[in-house]
Amino acid sequence: MTVKPMKIYPDPILRTTCVGVEAFDEKLAQFLDDLGESLYAHEGVGLAAPQIGEPIRACVVDVEQREGTPKLIELVNPVVVETSGEPREYEEGCLSFPGEAETVVRPAKVKVRYQDRCGAAQEITGEGLLGTALQHEIDHLSGVLFIDKISRLKRSLVERRMKKRAKASA
Ligand code: CO
Repeated sequence: MTVKPMKIYPDPILRTTCVGVEAFDEKLAQFLDDLGESLYAHEGVGLAAPQIGEPIRACVVDVEQREGTPKLIELVNPVVVETSGEPREYEEGCLSFPGEAETVVRPAKVKVRYQDRCGAAQEITGEGLLGTALQHEIDHLSGVLFIDKISRLKRSLVERRMKKRAKASA
């Protein structure tokens, strides 16, 4: 297992539409191991494949690790099939936006169909932090970022700080 470096905004891979996974092989298993390992190493709640440089439809989520009981969910080819509940506000961050956090409104509850690492069909319903994390990560697979869901003014401020940061580290 390898911890992969994080792709930081405005890296163009973060705006890529990721391709579906077709081969449920050893290479995919290794990639998912790396994705999970990278999630824990970077202390995130969720991580999507393009964030470590692989534009494929896969992501991982763990909302329980903070309580000391890690429970990694690996989602391959995930699709949101239903949303419900009152819109929920949550202060979201993203490992591709170090130091940034903004309030995002999303449906409270979400039902997701996906495949596990063996290709078997799975379904999960999440609300609260899990609901938010699932939507945030699945968005990544279509090149959608949490800054797309905040006001234009706030987005331009975040973009300005991120570009400054990129310039400083170049
Ligand atoms: Co993110």
